[in-house]
Amino acid sequence: MGAAGAPWLERSEREREERPSLAVRLLRLQPGQTVADIGAGSGYYTELLSKAVGSAGKVYATDIQPEMIRLLDERIRRRRLSNVQAILCTEADPRLPPESLDLALLVDVYHEFAQPQQMLRAIHRALKPGGRLVLIEYRKEDPAVPIREEHKMSIAEARAEVEPEGFAFDRVLNDLPWQHILIFRK
Ligand SMILES: C[S@@+](CC[C@H](N)C(=O)[O-])C[C@H]1O[C@@H](n2cnc3c(N)ncnc32)[C@H](O)[C@@H]1O
Repeated sequence: MGAAGAPWLERSEREREERPSLAVRLLRLQPGQTVADIGAGSGYYTELLSKAVGSAGKVYATDIQPEMIRLLDERIRRRRLSNVQAILCTEADPRLPPESLDLALLVDVYHEFAQPQQMLRAIHRALKPGGRLVLIEYRKEDPAVPIREEHKMSIAEARAEVEPEGFAFDRVLNDLPWQHILIFRK
């Protein structure tokens, strides 16, 4: 998604349609934890993560598009998100410190990766031992989800891509209206 899609990410119906607040609650983050919002876009989820880990925690919000980083920096300033750091990254390198993350979150991002295997390996390096990789993707298995087919991902597709890169499948949470939450562990 180009930066021109940012208004869609910020639409007022998003909370009712996709329930991002519930998604973050389900992740059961603890105050003081370090998380990465990879492919953060305009930072809709970043702000929820920032509140969940609190002032003792840290959120790295990455994106490959300078315009998304500009929107992220604007949000950080406007909403005083002092625990968030925006990072302009590349298609193969999230530019995250090694073994620093309790959780790496990718919301509607994985299927956009141009170099998915390189990204998975780099995320693996950035996670602490036992840290979680979480993909939130539109359910391909469900034709009623009103999103174009190429933006959806099935559980089988996600597992086939992620597990060979050193991640153990943990579980899927199916509490959201349109998306599944796929949890893997380093
Ligand atoms: C559909 S948007 C989702 C934004 C955000 N996660 C949300 O749900 O509000 C996908 C974002 O992923 C970013 N992206 C694509 N490939 C990426 C990569 N390799 N690393 C970081 N960001 C990436 C895009 O620039 C875009 O901002």
